[in-house]
Order: sequence, then structure tokens, then C-alpha cells
Amino acid sequence: MRIYLVDDYEKMSKKAATIVASQMRIKPDSVLGLATGSTPEGMYKELVKMHKKEDLDFSEIKTFNLDEYYGLPKDNRESYYFYMMNNLFNHINIKKGNINIPNGMEEDIKAECIRYEEEIEKAGGIDLQVLGIGRNGHIGFNEPNLKFEALTHLVKLDEDTITANSRFFDSLDEVPTKAISMGIKTIMHSRKILLLANGKEKALAIKKALEGPIKPEVPASILQLHIDVTVIIDKEASKELNLEDHPKLKWS
Ligand code: F6R
Repeated sequence: MRIYLVDDYEKMSKKAATIVASQMRIKPDSVLGLATGSTPEGMYKELVKMHKKEDLDFSEIKTFNLDEYYGLPKDNRESYYFYMMNNLFNHINIKKGNINIPNGMEEDIKAECIRYEEEIEKAGGIDLQVLGIGRNGHIGFNEPNLKFEALTHLVKLDEDTITANSRFFDSLDEVPTKAISMGIKTIMHSRKILLLANGKEKALAIKKALEGPIKPEVPASILQLHIDVTVIIDKEASKELNLEDHPKLKWS
């Protein structure tokens, strides 16, 4: 696990975009796993800038998003489909057919989850998966105490996740209570993982994920067992870490 400690959100976003862009330049037909939420917004802005100013080419890139709310249509402003179009896909030269996001409106959810896994496999697996982390240690929408061996599945969102995500909705009641999410097993199959976290409200989750015991109560703790994880955290998110215990920690 490589950990980069950066001053702030802007530096985290730039560093993350540089890593994603490097992956794309090394392998122009890379399969990227993408996250939504506040954390990667800055990274997407940087990637859009790189596309416009440095010709960063998305024409052969395939993407798979981690998750989508269950029951929200694509045109709902809070759907992750809407988020991705708005923050990234509408501004780059990706082929629409290469974009994959679980369909939260599908009636046969089991079939949709199986289809999603099959699409990932057909694409050759995920080369680089970008992750944020929930205050409760979730990755994707794999909430505490879910099985580590889960593939893409329907999840019931934790109270804490619903409260945290209510900031995007007009009221708490409007936040969907379920989502389709890649499972921990899907995430762990990615060749490389890039975990991002900023702000003091993520500090405890980061400490438990990076230093704590590996257990389903802290879903992100499983990342300690992945062979190629890069973590970029800002100063506030690193506040609870015992920094001297991380030999691969780099300051930048
Ligand atoms: C989003 C996702 C979630 C978020 C996490 C942090 O696709 O899978 O795990 O990464 O909830 O969200 P923010 O970045 O809004 O704090």
C-alpha cells in the first residue's frame, strides 16, 4: 500500500488525476472503475482539463461505476448516471457505449447484477478502480458487516450513509434506501486501486481502514490485502493515523 499525504483537497484531486491519466497513457484501452460523491469531483475536473488542454484521450477507455441508487431514473439530478454525465462524460471523448453504470430502474435486479459482473469480465476486468470511503468505512455501497465475498448486489443503505448523502437531496425522506453496488469481491478483483479521502470526517474511517484489523465491520479494511493500492489523503483525513507506522508513506 502506497500512501500519499497531501496538504488539501486540490492537491489530492490533482495527484489522483495524474495517476488515472498515467494509467490511460500506459494503456489507452484501460478499463476504469469510477466512484461518485464529493471526493472525486475535483479529480474529474482535472481529468476534463487534461482532456481539453493535453489531449488526454478517452476514445478507447471503458468505465464501470461502482454503484447506482435503486429506484432513481437516469434523469434524476441525484442519480449517479446524472452525476457522471455532468462531472465527466459530457466533457470528454468517451464512446457512450463504453460507459457502464448499474441500472437502478431495472425490475429484475438479480439479472442486472449478473449482467454487470459479466460486462466487467467481458471487458477484461478493471485495470484501475477509484474509491472514496464512507464515514462508516464503506467502499462502493458495501456497508459494514456485509460479506467480503459479495459480487454486484442490491444493498440496503446504512442510516449513516442515508444521513451523509441527504446533503444532496431536498429532504432525508427523498434519499433512496437501497442501491446496486459492486461487491467487495468485485472491487478486490481490480488490478489496481486508488483510494481517496479528504476532510476530518473521514479521519477515523481512514485509520480503521489502514491500521485496524481486517473485518467486515470496516469494509475498507480488506484493502490491506490487495497487492496494488495507492491511497491519497489530505492532512485532515490523516489526523488519526500513526504516521511513523507507514513505511511507504510519501509526502507530496
Ligand atoms: C460513491 C461510493 C461511495 C462514496 C462514499 C464517500 O460511488 O461508492 O462509497 O465514495 O460514500 O462519499 P463522499 O465522497 O461524498 O464523501
